Amino acid sequence: MILVDIDFMNVGDLDEVLEIERESFNLPWSRNLFLRELDFPGNAYIVARLRDRVVGYAGIRFYGRQAHITTIAVAPKWRGNRIGEQLLLALIEIAKDRQAKEIVLEVRPSNRIAIGLYEKYGFRTIGVIPGYYMDNGEDAFLMRVKI
Ligand SMILES: CC(C)(COP(=O)(O)OP(=O)(O)OC[C@H]1O[C@@H](n2cnc3c(N)ncnc32)[C@H](O)[C@@H]1OP(=O)(O)O)[C@@H](O)C(=O)NCCC(=O)NCCS
Repeated sequence: MILVDIDFMNVGDLDEVLEIERESFNLPWSRNLFLRELDFPGNAYIVARLRDRVVGYAGIRFYGRQAHITTIAVAPKWRGNRIGEQLLLALIEIAKDRQAKEIVLEVRPSNRIAIGLYEKYGFRTIGVIPGYYMDNGEDAFLMRVKI
């Protein structure tokens, strides 16, 4: 396990975040999309820092008592060190602080690693969203945990 510092994301982190984003997703978010997410009231975006370098990040939105994890990623060379886990736990704490009652997220059924991480913290698949992912038409699993 590599212990990281968890901080709120700021605009100055975006160059590093975007590099990890492009290495992690087939449909990477743009800088503008991150800027909009950072600006949107109530959203929380966090980064994992290791010796002042961003090695991962994650985000959550709030809809009333429901929190929705929008993204989570760790730089490829740092994966498997429980950094994703520290990010997920930080988001769960933020959601509890804000009195959310449940957290939901979408994940590709093919993403066994992410599903393993979510299941470890109590998320269960509660539905399937057909054709959710635009790049290959893959379905999404909708997962939820009560907190
Ligand atoms: C998903 C992701 C964030 C996990 O981050 P990570 O730091 O590598 O994961 P961790 O080291 O914290 O592992 C936590 C749990 O994830 C699962 N996991 C991690 N690596 C795994 C692997 N190689 N094989 C199987 N399960 C794995 C396990 O359940 C693990 O817990 P365990 O070690 O007790 O079994 C990372 O793989 C990633 O950035 N993937 C690309 C982006 C992505 O798919 N994001 C999710 C979109 S929904």
